[in-house]
Amino acid sequence: MVEELDMTRIPRHIAIIMDGNGRWATERNKPRSYGHQAGVETVRRITSECVRLGVKYLTLYTFSTENWNRPTDEIAALMGLVLTSLEDEIFMKNNVRFRVIGDRERLPEEVQEKLRETEQHTEKNAAMTMVVALSYSARWEITQAMKEIVTEHQQENTVPLRPEMITEELLDRHMQTNFMPDPDLLIRTGGELRISNYLLWQIAYSELYFCDTYWPDFSEHDLQKAITSFQSRQRRFGKTEKQVEENENK
Ligand code: IPE
Ligand code: IPE
Ligand code: MG
Repeated sequence: MVEELDMTRIPRHIAIIMDGNGRWATERNKPRSYGHQAGVETVRRITSECVRLGVKYLTLYTFSTENWNRPTDEIAALMGLVLTSLEDEIFMKNNVRFRVIGDRERLPEEVQEKLRETEQHTEKNAAMTMVVALSYSARWEITQAMKEIVTEHQQENTVPLRPEMITEELLDRHMQTNFMPDPDLLIRTGGELRISNYLLWQIAYSELYFCDTYWPDFSEHDLQKAITSFQSRQRRFGKTEKQVEENENK
């Protein structure tokens, strides 16, 4: 029910851990890949809904570094789905820009090519940016950021890197997510109460929302419920309730 939502306080960036596809399929006596297929449909619905609500960034955890440890046939099915589901039409219709974060070099060449293509085709779309985390893990991301910092410094300088050169801003600039603000709201579907190596650096002050619904069943209404919960909270960023209220009334 959109009536409950304060349209002036829609989170700018929503990150989602789309979990529960496998269990959804198993409950229906179907192979896990059937659940992933159904999950793609949810991605389409939720993307359109986010655009409609005015969300600016939607970051979807699609395949984690740890997911490389799944059975090879499930990995193949997931890679196949990435290839077939990236249709330009969905992005063009919604004016959505597509971006990828993660260790893309580990992905099959064919998938890498499709990702590059989709990123290029949608480059000028401006209603919302949909970011897909593929072969992504936060510890990998933080580690590669540190490697980049050292490598770049060595290429450009003869003096060694000094501790005071390491700042939060510098790390931010070397994160995969350096083109967007941190998530305001993190949603995990599927009932597990954990982060599973997702955006650890960026969610330092995100509001967390967990629900039991399996991702294929996650509806526009469920998304609105998550946003309503977000809007009912006071983000204090370390300050007191009173300080935040005084600031809001200015
Ligand atoms: C999330 O669903 C999608 C991926 C991790 C690729 P799962 O496949 O983890 O589904 P469950 O958690 O086993 O139900
Ligand atoms: C997290 O889901 C990763 C994605 C949704 C892509 P998992 O199902 O892999 O998480 P764990 O392993 O149960 O924590
Ligand atoms: Mg899971």
